[in-house]
Order: sequence, then C-alpha cells, then structure tokens
Amino acid sequence: SVSMAVDLGGIHMDNPVCTASGTFGNGWQFEGFYDVSELGAITCKGVSAEPWEGNPAPRMAELPSAVMNSVGLQNPGVRAFVRDYGDYLAGLSARGCKVICQVAGHSVEEYVRALDLFEELAPFAAGFELNISCPNIAKGGSAMGSTPAGAAEVTRACRPHTSRPLLVKLAPTNVGEIARAVEAEGADALTLINTIPGMAIDVRTRRSRVSRPTAGVSGPAIHAIAVRMVWEAARAVSIPINGVGGVASGEDAAEFILAGATAVSVGTANLYDPMAAPRVLRELEQWAEGQGVTDINELIGAFEC
Ligand code: DOR
Repeated sequence: SVSMAVDLGGIHMDNPVCTASGTFGNGWQFEGFYDVSELGAITCKGVSAEPWEGNPAPRMAELPSAVMNSVGLQNPGVRAFVRDYGDYLAGLSARGCKVICQVAGHSVEEYVRALDLFEELAPFAAGFELNISCPNIAKGGSAMGSTPAGAAEVTRACRPHTSRPLLVKLAPTNVGEIARAVEAEGADALTLINTIPGMAIDVRTRRSRVSRPTAGVSGPAIHAIAVRMVWEAARAVSIPINGVGGVASGEDAAEFILAGATAVSVGTANLYDPMAAPRVLRELEQWAEGQGVTDINELIGAFEC
C-alpha cells in the first residue's frame, strides 16, 4: 500500500483529500453518508468577524458542466459559528481529520478581527485560510486578492495574529506573481483556484440567472484552468499548494498532484454526489499504487513536461 500522509504547510494530514470551502456545509451534514474523518481535512465556509447576510436569492444556477454562485459569503460571524459548530469540529479534529477555518473580510482590519476571534475561540482549527478571492463581494474578496500588493497587504497584516498554519486562497489571475507576494509575507501554503468570474443571462427575462450580474463559476468546466494555475503557482513558489477546481474523480485529483499540488480539495462534486470526496480518495490511492510508488509525496510535481 501507498503512504498517503502529506504536510500542507504545517497541517499534517493522513491523506491529501480535502473538501473545498462552501461546498460541504461544515462537515456534519455529510456524516450520515460516510465517516468524514476519513478525509485529510475539511475547509469550513468563510466566516467574518460579524454576521453577513449574503446576496439575495437566487444564488445558484446550473450550467453545462458547471455551477455558478453568487452567495456573497453569507455567514453567522465567528462567535455564532464556534458556538454552533465548534463541538462537532473539535470532535472531527480529535478523530484525525484536520479542520481549516476560512477567514473573510471587507478590509484588512476585518480580516484581522475575524482571525483574532478564531485564534481565541477555535482551538480545533488546524490552520486558517484567508479568502482574498471571492468574486461575489464588493469589497475585500477578489478586490483585495487581485493584485500582488493587495494580497501581500492582507497576508502581512494577518501573519502576526496566529502561529497556526496560514493559507491564502487565490483567484485564477496573475497567479505566479500573487503567489510570490504572499509567500514573501509568510503564508505557509496556497489554495487555488477560487471560482472564475462569469455571467449567465436568462434570455426570456433578459435578467441574470443569479441575483448579481456576475458570479463565480465552478465545477468540471474549470478543472483544466485550475490545473494550469496550480502548475504555474508551483513553479513560482516553494510553499505547498492545495489544488481546487472541478475535482470529481481520482484522476482529476492526480492531475493536481502531478502539476505540483500537495493537497487536493473536492468542491462542486460534493453537491452532486455526497460520496464524491471519499471516492476521490479511494481512486487517488489506487492511481498512486498503479504508479508503483510507496509514498504519494513522490508524485507531487512529477508531471513530465
Ligand atoms: O465562488 C465563491 N462563492 N467563492 C467564494 O470565495 C465565496 C463564495 C460566496 O459566498 O459567494
């Protein structure tokens, strides 16, 4: 058998398969389908210091081979998040699955405030992921993460506020330069990619199919783009990468590993098949076995170019 343990910037995971933020509830919703602690890690939905209402409905639309969303980072705020999900997440962590808490903000100060609250109230968090790439909020999100200077500023401000592993989630633009900027500010790992900005028009009503004219596109349609972005980031930095984008099979996950990802997150596939993540793990392990290695780490970045 193949050793599947990996180290994502100080987050030691039993295997590389995670779930992507916002597509997996906060984990407990899936316990009726399988033992969630089989996964390497879960990433919780982004949480801000104060509660956010999110965007008006409709917030999701199905496209050919893709989903589009304009959720707008609806969340209950760190205090209510910890109150409502903290016990489950602490138990999950005790069962061996790492919990990554995602941090959202509209400004540098808001990211820091949310991180401070998490730091104080969430001992179960194995690490934190700064979401600087959400395409669905007017301020913060991709407004902050779309330039090397903006991405560096958020990372620099947050870094001294936790000694736990700090991940930064990037948008699929200017990836190499932004990856280098956040690495220089002390990020321990990168997650990429977030959804790709898109729009879909209902031609009968002439209106957007979701409540905002622009939204984020996810799912199989963005997988090849995500693989390319992970490969570019992996060549630009030496910190590990968590690959996200259209993973629905072990082969999809294997592509990310070969392109240079240390971990792989299943997102949109969770919405279509609640068993997607454990299946991806099983298939990834079978692939690694077939490659004749004894340790999955031998395959990270092993793409022959
Ligand atoms: O596509 C996304 N939707 N990416 C994010 O980072 C946040 C989410 C939302 O809540 O809008």
